Amino acid sequence: MSQTATAILSDRINNMQESATIKMAKMSRELKAQGQDIIDLSLGEPDFDTPQHIKDAAKKAIDEGYTKYTPVPGYLELRKAIVEKFKRENNLTYTTDQIVVSTGAKQSIANVVLSLINPGDEVLLPAPYWVSYAAIAELAEGKCVEIPTTIDSNFKVTAELLAQHITSKTKLIIFSSPCNPTGSVYSQAELQSLADVVKKHPGLYVLCDEIYEYINYTGTAHTSLASFPEVFEQVITVNGFSKGFAMTGWRLGYIGAPLWIAKACDKMQGQFTSGTCSIAQKAGEAALMTDITPSLKMVEAFKKRRDTVYELLSNIPGLKVNLPEGAFYFFFDVSAYFGKVYNGKTLNTPEDISLYLLAEAKVAMVSGESFGDKYCLRMSYATSEEKLIAACERISKAFAQLS
Ligand SMILES: Cc1ncc(COP(=O)(O)O)c(C=O)c1O
Repeated sequence: MSQTATAILSDRINNMQESATIKMAKMSRELKAQGQDIIDLSLGEPDFDTPQHIKDAAKKAIDEGYTKYTPVPGYLELRKAIVEKFKRENNLTYTTDQIVVSTGAKQSIANVVLSLINPGDEVLLPAPYWVSYAAIAELAEGKCVEIPTTIDSNFKVTAELLAQHITSKTKLIIFSSPCNPTGSVYSQAELQSLADVVKKHPGLYVLCDEIYEYINYTGTAHTSLASFPEVFEQVITVNGFSKGFAMTGWRLGYIGAPLWIAKACDKMQGQFTSGTCSIAQKAGEAALMTDITPSLKMVEAFKKRRDTVYELLSNIPGLKVNLPEGAFYFFFDVSAYFGKVYNGKTLNTPEDISLYLLAEAKVAMVSGESFGDKYCLRMSYATSEEKLIAACERISKAFAQLS
């Protein structure tokens, strides 16, 4: 960036971190354009296509004239379908006024954080966390407070850890289960113990990001934090269509929230983007109203890939790998390779290792630092098994060269 641009641009944008995931994906695209054979495992995007019946609903919506501005919180029919979904799958009772549909779950999260956080309010982030939580909280001038976890505890916070980090300034906790970047899934008992802490702090709210809800290999049903009645009034449930229905490009997410928070998000969105795309909303309605067999088939494929990659990564000397229970990421510890030298440069951080693997193995992955971690790399396995096997072979060879 030129000196002049930095001087003219706001502190807000100058201080904002570029998304590490998007940055790595951009680098890998550039290398591919130069003719390099890169396997890109950086992006969190299902490689499957949106199911046909959802696409058909979108085409029908265009033909039927759903082409005008939509109500700010979303079409009533879609909000009714979301209310039914919450009841059916999550045991959550919301009214349609408590639902706000947005341009992706990312906007849902921004609406909530910008509506709740004042400068200096503390936002607790169990780490590792999804990159945008911190960027959005900082945009709202909140103070991010990380709760560190390690691979040995499957990257989960306990009730004790959570309680230790709550102060009189703590306003919001943001976390995802199943988790991006770790793939961890909180069990019902673990969520109950977190709820027991939260209910003791009436001024504390929790943004529970459930966008990977369907991508869960535990064999037990997903539990929503808001389903514990004692914290229902303190929890904002975020969900969306990107991951479970392979609809990343449609940009459709939503919240279920206490009415006053939903109203604030509606007001916020009314000034930023208004109601999201009419056609995407009609597609989303079809996704929720029809059977989710295509989603379940996708999850089966993800599970098979997870098992393959787990075996391959576990066989690479020095790596510490856990078996993720959901989402489509491995978050593995590469710190055994810190201190190794490549091209005269000592590799000291996950970023050094990720750049080494990009150069040497031609595999793009995202370094843990941007997720609030100092030891790990994130690998997305939302790609073909063939590419995953090739990537693991290349990674294994590249690490062997360092030994
Ligand atoms: C944990 C988490 N939350 C939210 C999102 C954003 O989803 P959307 O595409 O609906 O904006 C992502 C996307 O990567 C994610 O990983």
